Amino acid sequence: MMKEQGEIAILAIESSCDETAAAVVVNGREVRSNIISSQIALHTLYGGVVPEIASRKHIEKINQVITEAMETAEADWSEIDAIAVTYGPGLVGALLVGVAEAKAISYARKLPLIGVHHIEGHICANYIENKELEPPFLCLVVSGGHTHLVKVEDYRSYKILGRTRDDAAGEAFDKVARAIGLGYPGGPKIEKVSHEGNPHAVEFPRPKVADGEYDFSFSGLKSAVLNYLNSCQMKNIPIVQTDIAASFQKAVTDVLIGNAMHAVDTYGVKKFAIAGGVASNGTLREGMRIACEEKGVEFYHPSPVYCTDNAAMIGAAAYYEYMAGTRSGLDLNAVPNLKLGER
Ligand code: KG4
Ligand code: ZN
Repeated sequence: MMKEQGEIAILAIESSCDETAAAVVVNGREVRSNIISSQIALHTLYGGVVPEIASRKHIEKINQVITEAMETAEADWSEIDAIAVTYGPGLVGALLVGVAEAKAISYARKLPLIGVHHIEGHICANYIENKELEPPFLCLVVSGGHTHLVKVEDYRSYKILGRTRDDAAGEAFDKVARAIGLGYPGGPKIEKVSHEGNPHAVEFPRPKVADGEYDFSFSGLKSAVLNYLNSCQMKNIPIVQTDIAASFQKAVTDVLIGNAMHAVDTYGVKKFAIAGGVASNGTLREGMRIACEEKGVEFYHPSPVYCTDNAAMIGAAAYYEYMAGTRSGLDLNAVPNLKLGER
C-alpha cells in the first residue's frame, strides 16, 4: 500500500444495522477501500430489518469483508495503525459482531482499538470528498434511526440543536412506502416513483414542534398519509401511488430544509452539510443546495455510497479520535442507545 511516513492508516468496521462493512482509510480522508455487504435483499422478504437475522449474517460475512478491504487497499497488516469499530448506536446483536471482531484483531495484531459513534461517522463522511471542509459547520443527519440537526463545533465536538420527537425521517419514508405498497427499503423506492408524480397533488401537513425550535416530528405526517389513503378508499377514489409518494417526499424535505435554514439564520454559520441514508435523496439535496445558495452558505454532501451505512465514514471519524489520543480497551462494549457527544 502506498503510504507516506507519518500517515495514519485505519482499518474500520461497521455492523450496526444491515450492512457488514470494512474500509481502509488514510488520514481520515483518503479511502483506499470501502467494502459493503448489504443484507437488504434478505430483509426485503420480511418488510424490514430482522435483528436476529442481521446478527447472524454479520457473523457469516465479516471476515470476508475485512479480507476484501485489506486486499483492495493492497494493505499489509504492518501498515495498519489502528482498528476502528462502530460501538453504538444500533442493534445490539449486530454491533456486537463488529466490536468482538475488532477486539480480536486489536489483541492478535497488537493494534490500538478505537470505538466510534455511528452518527459521528455519518457526519464525518463529508470529509472524504470535501478535502477543504473543516468545522465549524451545521449538519443535518437524516437516517433510518436518527434525525438530528447538529452544530459541529470542532472535530469531536458536537452540539445537538434539534432532533426528532418521534419517527426518524428515514423511518417515515419506510413506513409510508409500506403503506402505499412499495415495500422495503422505502426511501429509494419513494424517490424513484416520485419522478413520475406531482409533488403538489396532495398538500400534506408540514409539522412543526411548538416547544422545540429545531425539533422534528414525522409521525403526524405519516398518519396524514394513512388517513388520506383511508379516505380515498372510503370514497372509492383511486390511489395514485406516484402522486402520494411525490407529495410526501416534498412535505418531508420542506420540513427538513425549513428547520435547517432557520438554524443557519440563527447561528450564522457559513457551511452546511447533510449526512445519513436520507441525504442521498435527490429532492432533499437539490432543495438544500438552492436554499443554501440563496443564503450564501456553502453546501456539502457525501456521494450516495457514503450517505448510507459504510465503514469509510467510521475510518474518517476514527482518524480524529486517533489523533486526539482516544484508545478503547478490550472491555469495549456495544452501546445500542449511545447518545451523540457521549464518550
Ligand atoms: O444511514 P442509513 O443507511 O442507516 C441508518 O443508520 O439508519 O439510512 C437508512 C435509511 C432508510 O430509512 C432508507 O429508507 C433511507 O435511509 N434512504 C432514503 C434514500 N436512500 C436511503 N430515503 C430517502 N431517499 C433515498 N434515496
Ligand atoms: Zn447509519
